[in-house]
Amino acid sequence: MTIDLAALPQDFLWGTATSAYQIEGAVAEDGRSPSIWDTFSHTDAKIDNGDDGDLACDHYHRWREDIALMRQLGTNAYRLSVAWPRVMPGGVGPVNAKGLDFYDALIDALLAAGITPSVTLYHWDLPQVLQDRGGWPARDTAHHFAAYASAVAERLGDRVQHWTTLNEPLCSAWIGHLEGRMAPGLRDLTAAVRASYHLLLGHGLAAQAVRAAASGARVGIVNNLSDVVPATDRPEDIAAARRHDGHTNRWWLDPVHGRGFPADMREVYGVELPEHPGDLATIAQPLDWLGLNYYFPSAIADDPTGPAPRTRTVRRPGVPRTGIDWEVDAAGIERLLLRLTHDYGARELYVTENGAAYPDAVRPDGTVDDPERTAYLEQHLAACVSATRKGVPLAGYFAWSLLDNFEWAYGYDQRFGLVHVDYGTQRRTVKGSGLRYAEIIRAYASRGRSAA
Ligand code: IFM
Repeated sequence: MTIDLAALPQDFLWGTATSAYQIEGAVAEDGRSPSIWDTFSHTDAKIDNGDDGDLACDHYHRWREDIALMRQLGTNAYRLSVAWPRVMPGGVGPVNAKGLDFYDALIDALLAAGITPSVTLYHWDLPQVLQDRGGWPARDTAHHFAAYASAVAERLGDRVQHWTTLNEPLCSAWIGHLEGRMAPGLRDLTAAVRASYHLLLGHGLAAQAVRAAASGARVGIVNNLSDVVPATDRPEDIAAARRHDGHTNRWWLDPVHGRGFPADMREVYGVELPEHPGDLATIAQPLDWLGLNYYFPSAIADDPTGPAPRTRTVRRPGVPRTGIDWEVDAAGIERLLLRLTHDYGARELYVTENGAAYPDAVRPDGTVDDPERTAYLEQHLAACVSATRKGVPLAGYFAWSLLDNFEWAYGYDQRFGLVHVDYGTQRRTVKGSGLRYAEIIRAYASRGRSAA
């Protein structure tokens, strides 16, 4: 498929994204303490095949090779996350110098390679010691998060401009505390709502801390939003779709945009928020940019006896699905980008994650052919370009993911990488989709930002 890149702005960031626990390994090295994901992944029956992140992609030792891969792809940006338990093993001070040294060297090497680092402070790996003290349902965790954010920004802020407070707080709160499919594995609505509140409070406090520690910091938050449609035109399904939209989108967007927590969803949850005077203003720190992680749309039906928000996702016949069984529909990314622009007034947007999992294998000739992922990438990039043409201020796109990696409860079977990882040998192989991404980036960089 040909993509006309001319509508993309100058200085567009072409990136890949990863997160600490999914790629680093080295879980017990240089003073790192266990996170809730170490605990969860070592709990029976939580992860497919009994997998865990102990070794993952061994990026902690192979990061130079991984930066060389980024160069091979031609990317000019890289979205990584810092592991809180590496930097502050006790959850609260003191700082573990060796933990910060790792990220310090990584940032220097990225910059030397001409790759702009985009640093996420929290991608789900809460130090277990803080979980033992109440985790995100406890207010103190938000303040500890800000102290940790400050320490990271003090060390890296002279070189890193692009900061994300939280990645996908929805997953931490709803999947981790309500559905129990992610760490810490709770099924407790009150804990989940309290966690959601303190995550957003932590976002606001961390945004303030990063700005205080690093002048010139540009701070944003990354949400995985859902393009929600009612499964039928029954009034019950239309109402359910509205609740699902509240649960996955508005609950996360409204407070950070100064609109408070949506009243309809407060009623749906029926849980008192742990509000203190001034919190809403803290949560609504000005945002320099907004990040969208998009994977699939959701067709939603009413589920009157289900847990809050009493909705269920319906399987639509005839819609293509990825290897992880997620719908493929690139129109959803365009609709969400337009919504963030028009309904929330976003002035600078990034697609901070987008990608597809398929069960790739290295062929006898040493190549990895992944035409479905390539098509997914092309379709979603074309939808991004189309959004840009309609006025969306899109400033960058980060493919998920640079490498195949630990896909949380799915373990290692689900492969999202543009680069294949043989977990036995740690050998990396750029897939066909990675080669296509490199070709698109080259076409953009050529004079006139030509079509690819
Ligand atoms: O692997 C995850 C990532 O950690 C967060 N966003 C979604 C990806 C694919 O599930």
